[in-house]
Formats: sequence, C-alpha cells, structure tokens
Amino acid sequence: MAGGRGAFNSRFVAVMALAGSAIGLGNIWRFPYMVGQHGGAAFILVYIVCSLFISLPVFFAEGILGKSTRLGTFGALKKTAPKWRWAGYMGVLAAFVITSYYSVVGGWSLDYFVRSLSGGFRGLSFADSAGVFSDMTSSTVEVLAGFVIFLGLSALIVLAGVDKGIGAFSKVMMPLLFVMIVVIVVHSLSLPGARDGLDYLLKPDFSKLDGPAIAAALGQSFFSLSLGVGCVLTYSSYVKEGENLMATGLWTALFDTVFALLAGFAVMPAVFSVQGLEPGAGPSLVFETLPVVFSRMNPVVPVIFFLAVLVAALTSSISMFEEVAAWLIDEKGVSRKKAVLLVFLAALGLGSVCALVPRVFSACDFATSNIFMTLGALVFVLVVGWMMPKPAARKELSSGGVFFDIIWFFLKWVCPVAIVAIMVTNLL
Ligand code: PFF
Repeated sequence: MAGGRGAFNSRFVAVMALAGSAIGLGNIWRFPYMVGQHGGAAFILVYIVCSLFISLPVFFAEGILGKSTRLGTFGALKKTAPKWRWAGYMGVLAAFVITSYYSVVGGWSLDYFVRSLSGGFRGLSFADSAGVFSDMTSSTVEVLAGFVIFLGLSALIVLAGVDKGIGAFSKVMMPLLFVMIVVIVVHSLSLPGARDGLDYLLKPDFSKLDGPAIAAALGQSFFSLSLGVGCVLTYSSYVKEGENLMATGLWTALFDTVFALLAGFAVMPAVFSVQGLEPGAGPSLVFETLPVVFSRMNPVVPVIFFLAVLVAALTSSISMFEEVAAWLIDEKGVSRKKAVLLVFLAALGLGSVCALVPRVFSACDFATSNIFMTLGALVFVLVVGWMMPKPAARKELSSGGVFFDIIWFFLKWVCPVAIVAIMVTNLL
C-alpha cells in the first residue's frame, strides 16, 4: 500500500463505498423516467445488457488502473501510459465540475428534507409546488445556504479520511438507504393507481428501442456507475491487496441496478396514484411532482424520501470530491486537510455560479455527461486493453479463467466501438 494514502479495510466497505458513489440522483430521478419513456421492460433489458457487457468492462479498466498503480486518476494514467496523462487532468476536472453542480442539487435535497420535517408539503397543489421550487431556486440566500452546507458535509466526510470518513459513512448509510427505499416502495405499491405506475415502468414496448434509446441506456448506465471520470479508479486504489475486483464490480453493479429499479417502484406508482400528474425527468419529478403526491400522504413519507435523496447524493458527491483531493495529495504532495480545503473553496466558486445561473448549470451537466465521461471511459479501456499486458490485468482483477477472457474481449474490442458510437449519437 502506498504509504499514508489510506485504504478500505474490507471488501464490504469497498463495495459500500463504490455502491455509494454509483447510487445517487441518477438512480432516483433519471432512471425511472427513462425507463418509462424508452419502452419499459424492453429498456431495462437493454440497460442490463449494456451494464454487463460495456459498463462492467469499463469499471474493471478503471479498477485495474487504480489498484495496479495505487494512485488517483492523473497519477495512474501518467504511470501506465504517460502520453495519455492529459486524460487524467480531464478526469479530475470532470470530477470537480460534477462535484460543483451535483452539490447544488444536494443543497435542494437538504432544503426539501428540512421542509418535510416541518410538514411543509401539506395541502400542496401542483401550481403551488412548482412555485415553491422556483421560489427556492431563485432565492439566492436559500439556494446558496443549502449548497454550502451540502458541500461542507461532503468536505467533512472526505476530511475524516478514506476509511474513517468515506468507508465508515458508506458502511452505515448504504444499508440504511436500502431500508428507506424499501419502506417507500411498500407504501407506494399500496396506493390506488399503483398498477398504472407499474405498467409505465414495466410494460415492454420493443418498438421504442431505437438508436437514441440504446445510447440513452448506455449513457445512463455509465452515469449511474460513476464511470469515465475516475471515481472508480480512485476508490480502487484504496482496496486491499488481494481484493477480487471482479466480485467487487459485480456486487456494485448489482446493488446499483437493484436500487434503480426500487427507486422506480417507489416513485412511479406514487406519481400515478394522483390523477393528472405526469412523470417528468430531473428536478421537476423530484422537486415539483412528488411533493404534490406527498401532500396527501402520511407526513413521515416525504421525510424518509428526501432523507434518502440526500444520503444518496452525499455518498456520490464524496467520491468525486475524494478524486480531486487525491490528485492534490498524490501529485502536489499537500496534506489531506489542505487538499480538502482547496477543493472546498474551488467548488464553492464554481458551484455558486451553477446555483445562480441555470445556463452554467446545464452546460456543466451537458459537458460532463456527454463529453468528459464518454471520452474518459474510452481512454481507460484503450489504455488497459491495448497498453497493459493481459497477465498484469488478470492479476489485478484476481480472476482467472474464461470469465476474464470474455471481459478482456469486450474491454479491448467491443467497448471502444460502443463508446465511440454513443459519443457520436449524443453529439448529433
Ligand atoms: N453515479 C451517480 C448517480 O447515479 O447519481 C453520479 C455520478 C457520481 C456520476 C460520480 C459521476 C461520478 F463520477
């Protein structure tokens, strides 16, 4: 272990931290809507195939780079393929940009959690709800307060270190998160009209599976597993020496997919239980539509739901924060304390602009999800697949046999082609 970098002290902690990074706003507010829009169960099938054959090999490529070098994104690329180190800067930059705008949404979740504690959604109509959301986002003080507190919480967890901070937080919070979402699922499924919500999610419609839908499935799978940025790479540099990365990756992907489905079962039946409400993607679903649904329910439900959103956002945001801090610690030789302070201050700057200027927020989201993440993923698979000896990669994954050969084939040949294809589709 590289001296003093910190480590996750067990497989369970590593999986919880990686699952924490993966499970986030992407699962709660994007996945359910995308499934409904792109053909229900048919989309889920494509999503699972993409996750298994494209995303998992990318996950392994990142894992191999992190575990073999015991360095963060920039250092790992510099050591393995010096000519590609520019992609290390890009990864760190992407993690920084995502930390900044993701924390803005984290701040909104915090705001809504506090509102739910005081029963703030009672008797809300849809028009009122949209008004509450736009009042919040246009109130400079309110939006900045939530953002700063959220970013500060992320900073404190990262400051406490890899095992005592990130590991300890994820180990406790991830199982709790599953309990919270299951409680909401049980409640949602008992509502009148739940069937329509389930139909929206599950009815297979293969006619909707066109090129853009397949690109969307792969893009969502990348975003959901936090790929292409270097978070998985950075966390993998902290796993134990003999860790079986193959198993770690499979568990992470399984938890992420199960959680996304549970989020769908929690959200859609609830939306369809109120006549006239339409599921929409992104902020409007979680912050405008759901509060109306919650206004008619036991007030404990929104408390649990927004706490779950908050926790999911936090465990993801710390993985990006850590990646940027790890770059400063590994490459610039600064202490963890100083690194955390620097990342906090820089993200405070960019995040405040994102919080107050919607166009900057959207531009950051677009650039990171459509350009940085896919380009980063492409570099990771090319570097591992074409510049690393196969036996070395096999050793890092701790997995032999035919399973590895299949993964290697996909990593080397299929992933690069598939990633270029989605980059082109997304940018057209
Ligand atoms: N996987 C997170 C989610 O689904 O919300 C988002 C994310 C985290 C994306 C970390 C990228 C990243 F590097």
